[in-house]
Amino acid sequence: MKDKLRVLAFESSCDELSVAIIERDGRKILANIVHSQIDIHAIYGGVVPEIASRDHVRRLDAVLDKALEVAKLNLREAAELIAVTRGPGLVGCLLCGLEYAKGLAVGLSVPIVGVHHLEAHIAAADLEEEAPQTPYIALLVSGGHTHIIKVLQRGGPYTVLGSTRDDAAGEAFDKTAKLLGLGYPGGLAIDRLAQQGQRGSFSFPQPMPGRDNLDFSFSGLKTAARNLIRDSSGSLLDQKLANFCADFQGTVVDNLLRKSLRACEMHAIPRLVLAGGVAANSELRSQAVKRGAESGVRVSLPSRELCTDNAAMVARAGWLAYHTHAKSEELTFSALPNWNFS
Ligand code: KG4
Ligand code: ZN
Repeated sequence: MKDKLRVLAFESSCDELSVAIIERDGRKILANIVHSQIDIHAIYGGVVPEIASRDHVRRLDAVLDKALEVAKLNLREAAELIAVTRGPGLVGCLLCGLEYAKGLAVGLSVPIVGVHHLEAHIAAADLEEEAPQTPYIALLVSGGHTHIIKVLQRGGPYTVLGSTRDDAAGEAFDKTAKLLGLGYPGGLAIDRLAQQGQRGSFSFPQPMPGRDNLDFSFSGLKTAARNLIRDSSGSLLDQKLANFCADFQGTVVDNLLRKSLRACEMHAIPRLVLAGGVAANSELRSQAVKRGAESGVRVSLPSRELCTDNAAMVARAGWLAYHTHAKSEELTFSALPNWNFS
């Protein structure tokens, strides 16, 4: 099997459409184009699935062309293997990428691999100069998911050690930002404001405090935020608003890191990898490095662009899946593997 295989990948699970090309042992990024629909959905205060998928359909050709232009390759040179996000995500959005990628694979007669979106988030760290050593603990925090996962080897198996019982961490950021009138998407808005704030003015409950419990719950935090906002009667402005964001964000970050570092301790694995859109959060990144060093845990932080949705991570996960699971070079769409993420 060819290790230097070039991978052309597509990510369209939500409101970002991305096309990437990687090569050389599946770690060198030649292009990673991300078209975000933030402007389109901002007026609705959240993603409108039908509008998102229609925009994907409209832009797929152009985003692919841009990726080929950046990589200075033609389609046949770029697509020795095709990888595409197969889920989870918005069904209409996923179908846009899947059908487009399948069409290309059939037309070019090249193999295609369907990639689990969360597996792709985990694989993002491999694209950095220094890939994390396995086994490691991954904290996967996105708009729809919050998990602590033990990664035994690249490409799996993965063991979920803890999960949110209600909202995802990104959802808690987005919903609280909406209540504060900060618009969509809210995570980045809270992150920016919190940088000008001080902690200590607002008290939020620490969710699921049990020492060995690796599950999360963010709905209580969201309710606490809603009550504090209601009780403030419109006075949460300027410095007070920044302080509120710092306290809210600090509580989420404390919770995420306390449990992730406890997972490292419980499983005697001194390596933590951050993944998913919330891993772009400034406070989470700086506190992870600081507290990791204090606990003797080495922390890997993919660049912010590789934390939020992008196709380079899908390409890397597709490359791994192909090398881990493909039985021969004859793998084609009809043999598309369908792994469960458990
Ligand atoms: O992984 P992702 O791009 O998409 C999903 O798979 O869901 O994650 C999106 C989530 C959103 O909830 C967004 O608000 C959050 O990541 N996010 C952030 C930051 N940047 C993105 N949350 C906190 N701080 C950030 N800087
Ligand atoms: Zn994602």
